[in-house]
Amino acid sequence: MKALTIEKVGSPVRLTEVDMPVKREGHSIVKLKASALNHRDVWITKGMYPGIKEGAILGSDGVGVLDGRNVILNPGLRWGENEAVQADDFEVLGMPVDGTFAEYISIPNEYIYDQPEHLSIEQAAALPLAGLTAYRVLMSRCQTKSTDKVLVTGTGGGVALFAVQFAVALGCDVYVTSRSEEKIAKAVALGAKGGYNYKDETWYKEVETNFDVIIDSAGGASFQHLIKICKPGARIGFYGATLGKYQNLNPQLLFWRQISILGSTMGSDQDFRNMLAFVDNHKIKPIVDSVFSLEEGSRAFERMEAGTQFGKIVLKH
Ligand SMILES: NC(=O)c1ccc[n+]([C@@H]2O[C@H](COP(=O)([O-])OP(=O)(O)OC[C@H]3O[C@@H](n4cnc5c(N)ncnc54)[C@H](OP(=O)(O)O)[C@@H]3O)[C@@H](O)[C@H]2O)c1
Repeated sequence: MKALTIEKVGSPVRLTEVDMPVKREGHSIVKLKASALNHRDVWITKGMYPGIKEGAILGSDGVGVLDGRNVILNPGLRWGENEAVQADDFEVLGMPVDGTFAEYISIPNEYIYDQPEHLSIEQAAALPLAGLTAYRVLMSRCQTKSTDKVLVTGTGGGVALFAVQFAVALGCDVYVTSRSEEKIAKAVALGAKGGYNYKDETWYKEVETNFDVIIDSAGGASFQHLIKICKPGARIGFYGATLGKYQNLNPQLLFWRQISILGSTMGSDQDFRNMLAFVDNHKIKPIVDSVFSLEEGSRAFERMEAGTQFGKIVLKH
């Protein structure tokens, strides 16, 4: 079968002919119809991820067909019993275990769910990893309520956009940041109340200091400013560090104003089930930025690296 593999760290992904997966006990072989990129896939090709196995098939998001059923895969493997944190042997589909950028995958049955019926194949492919991460950080970690005022930074990101859609569906007043006015306008069209362009490094100075919840994946030097625009008692949920380490965090601002900074990663099986139910109940449709074929895989990676996307970059198999 055909698959996108990482031949060598630092080289683009390559479409190669690989052996069909072998069915193991407790697994099923799903015929994959579509998958989607996450920033993780790009980090892996650059060697910026632990445990990289050259020759592995990339891809964490996948939808396909099993015995005539349209199915969607949970990419978080072996979360374990503790809802608070994943087990030591937790793993993400698509490195080191073979992922979804292939025609078929062998996957344990417990990670196979019915695809929400209101979604197209492409929309469903966009959902798993980013939807799960957004759901956990927003709902399970920050315990966001409909009365909360929410800021999501970097709205163009795959996870960030789900956080916007989920918070809007919940009934929150949602604001965003982005490098692009066009992306802010698109977020507003999805129900956000407004946005700020972070290319202006003083953007936070024009913001009212009243966010109950902030969802961030940028980190870096600008994270310190998020604390200044929180309400006392606010929660800042974060799941990424695109800009690296925090700098100049002021502990006085944090403890006196009772602000929580909550780290979050992917989500438990329960989070995945809850996320699918939430998407189904609110008939949320993931935003698909673009669709490439498996053969065009390296172009899809280039698009993600360029950062001009709004929504998920999907591969149709
Ligand atoms: N912990 C987890 O479970 C988990 C899960 C998924 C992702 N992640 C991490 O989260 C990050 C985003 O992942 P993704 O897949 O959503 O990536 P993505 O789709 O490529 O999105 C990255 C986004 O970051 C935003 N960004 C860039 N510079 C920024 C800045 N200075 N301030 C605020 N936002 C900025 C951009 O938003 P604009 O385009 O709007 O400017 C961009 O769209 C990555 O670091 C990834 O590794 C972690």
